[in-house]
Amino acid sequence: MNRPTARILVACLILLLAWGSIACAGPQQPAPTSPAPTTAAQPDGAALLQARCTRCHTLDRVQQAPRTASEWQTVVARMRSKGAQRNDAEAEALVQHLARTFGK
Ligand code: HEC
Repeated sequence: MNRPTARILVACLILLLAWGSIACAGPQQPAPTSPAPTTAAQPDGAALLQARCTRCHTLDRVQQAPRTASEWQTVVARMRSKGAQRNDAEAEALVQHLARTFGK
């Protein structure tokens, strides 16, 4: 085998390897995500209520008056400003849980 032929062979090999790795990576689908990512990441509203909303008062405070979802949103935002610890996703889960459980 003379040298130019060897070089061409090596070049072909490299090309093949490169193509091979692209071809292998190409058709790969992202792992199926079920259920939908939003519901998977959705925190548990009932657990959050117990954990975050009983520090300063009992849940009587929560149960005594039914509220609409938007009214719960206002309450949850106000409790947050008082120091209730939670992020936006948790707030959303809380509002949904409250509206479902103590809604009107
Ligand atoms: C840092 C203390 C604190 C935390 C934590 C807290 N609250 Fe409160 N909450 C208060 C205080 C103080 C009041 C009474 C004053 C007021 O209503 O603004 C109150 C009142 C309420 C009321 C009655 C409001 C009304 O208009 O009658 C509801 C309902 C309520 N809280 C729900 C919640 C919920 C839901 C959570 C969890 C997200 C929560 N609270 C967490 C301090 C807190």
